[in-house]
Amino acid sequence: MTADASSRERAARALAAVSQGASLSSVLPAALEGLTAQDRGFTHELIYGGLRQYQRLEAILAGLLRQPLKPRDRDIHCLLLLGLYQLSALEVKPYAAVHATVEAARALGKAWAAKLINGVLRNYQRRASELEAQLQGDPSARYSHPAWLLARLQQDWPHDWEAIVEANNRQPPLSLRVNARHGDRAGYLERLAAAGIQAAPLAHTSHGIRLEQTATIDRLPGYAEGDFSVQDGAAQLAAPLLGLAPGQRVLDACAAPGGKTAHLLETEPALQELVAVELESDRLQRVRDNLDRLRLQARLVQGDVGRPQDWWDGAPFDRILLDAPCSATGVIRRHPDIKLHRRPADIDRLTRLQAGLLDAVWPLLRPGGRLLYVTCSVLRAENALQVDAFVQRCATARPAPIAADWGRADGAGRQLLPIVNGVDAAPMDGFYYACLEKAMDEAA
Ligand SMILES: C[S@@+](CC[C@H](N)C(=O)[O-])C[C@H]1O[C@@H](n2cnc3c(N)ncnc32)[C@H](O)[C@@H]1O
Repeated sequence: MTADASSRERAARALAAVSQGASLSSVLPAALEGLTAQDRGFTHELIYGGLRQYQRLEAILAGLLRQPLKPRDRDIHCLLLLGLYQLSALEVKPYAAVHATVEAARALGKAWAAKLINGVLRNYQRRASELEAQLQGDPSARYSHPAWLLARLQQDWPHDWEAIVEANNRQPPLSLRVNARHGDRAGYLERLAAAGIQAAPLAHTSHGIRLEQTATIDRLPGYAEGDFSVQDGAAQLAAPLLGLAPGQRVLDACAAPGGKTAHLLETEPALQELVAVELESDRLQRVRDNLDRLRLQARLVQGDVGRPQDWWDGAPFDRILLDAPCSATGVIRRHPDIKLHRRPADIDRLTRLQAGLLDAVWPLLRPGGRLLYVTCSVLRAENALQVDAFVQRCATARPAPIAADWGRADGAGRQLLPIVNGVDAAPMDGFYYACLEKAMDEAA
């Protein structure tokens, strides 16, 4: 089998698994394993591109297939989607794209599909403009988003929804956070420059760096020594908002994989204690691994933060970071499988879960203490509306408005949308931040 066919075969298997419910992060390592750097890049591009344009490609394919393929031939169905992706979005020579896609069917052990693939792809080449024009009347296909999510975005962001969905389908920037305990940003930028890697400071952050080119993370200077972490600029806004000081007891309520846990420890080395709670033990192990690489320490607890009676020692916290489980609709550009997996009912379930976690952790905060509520969602039900409802029902919660030149004020907090907003050429992920302070008088 040629390397070309292998990339397409692997991408088709991965796309088939994701379209049947597997998470992209669970299938990606095997799909890329053992490939040369060039083939890795191409396979990665096929998988991410196929997911970013999934609804669009499905609509085109539906217009080309006389009847749907059998469920057991999901791999061939996905190979066809990837063939259409190559012909419509990549600068691969059409003849080579068709040939290698047909070869990939043989590699999948389905030589019978060679004729079908050849016919469908050649038919697309002939009818491309007619088929693409038909998509204009189908918003889900045109924007490659599920219809229900488009409707919610239109409702929440009537002026920005189109920019949001277009940004969701683009490749995200690659950003780092320099480990403040090991050095400063200027010093690390010099090390990158010495290694021939183009990079620039990340706006709104003290230790953020944006790489101007693709890079293999574990080959960047100081990776093994823990001199930096990969983290989007939006996530780097959490630690400064907590107002950390020496001697504080801090709760990181939903910790894995530990990006913000590490940032808290890097920001304030003299905390009395940082307790990092995570529900899932395998994800807690990722927190442990990340802290080990960065040479940082915290008290790691596997538990349900919604049931403090199972793990809390009764000593109040000065600061609480609640980086709540959410729809992750602000990071679709990094996790395009979200568009295939999320369902409308998930949003209701998640908003109930978030409300329950807010209610559960609030009593753990000392009077005068601060809680930072965070999501990587762009849906107002999980963000401004969630926090406003909490402030309404909780007599001791006071919003502490965030004075910042990023994002936009919404409810008690600020919303970042992953779009170019005139200030930043390179938009950050879609996050929501709200600071709440606890009244000194518990009876207030
Ligand atoms: C948005 S992620 C946190 C990201 C993390 N703060 C970071 O910056 O790397 C939410 C995490 O909360 C965890 N989680 C969900 N429900 C939880 C619960 N009831 N108690 C503790 N952790 C929970 C999830 O497993 C997930 O790892």
